[in-house]
Amino acid sequence: MDPELIAKAAAARENAVAPYSGFKVGAALETKDGRVYAGCNIENVSYGLTVCAERVALWKALSEGAREFRQIVTVTDAPRVTPPCGACRQLLWEYCGDILVGLHSLRGLDEEHRLAELLPHPFDRFQL
Ligand code: THU
Repeated sequence: MDPELIAKAAAARENAVAPYSGFKVGAALETKDGRVYAGCNIENVSYGLTVCAERVALWKALSEGAREFRQIVTVTDAPRVTPPCGACRQLLWEYCGDILVGLHSLRGLDEEHRLAELLPHPFDRFQL
């Protein structure tokens, strides 16, 4: 897993706004031409309006005009790596396709998956 992406996701994680869960997540999304957009989770007292780190990184990238992606790396300090939630899988599939998903825990754990492994049989525009 790319140490630079881990470092960028870990730095973003430091900015997590997670007073309710205490669970800080960072993400770094890399474009095909090597740009990196980082994000952290941002919680809200309504809970339901909380936004995951992956989605913050994705919205930042899309809003800056990025459209082609290679991989995303997420960082937590959990005892197991933290795969993206179902909603983020759906959104990553829609906008990034079958990217590489790197999962890193600061406790020294690493896993890599293709998004298609994490979201088999997706609903997408080909179903319309
Ligand atoms: N969270 C993420 O940011 N990304 C994930 O992949 C899983 C969950 C956040 C949402 C919430 O702020 C906290 O982690 C606990 O669920």
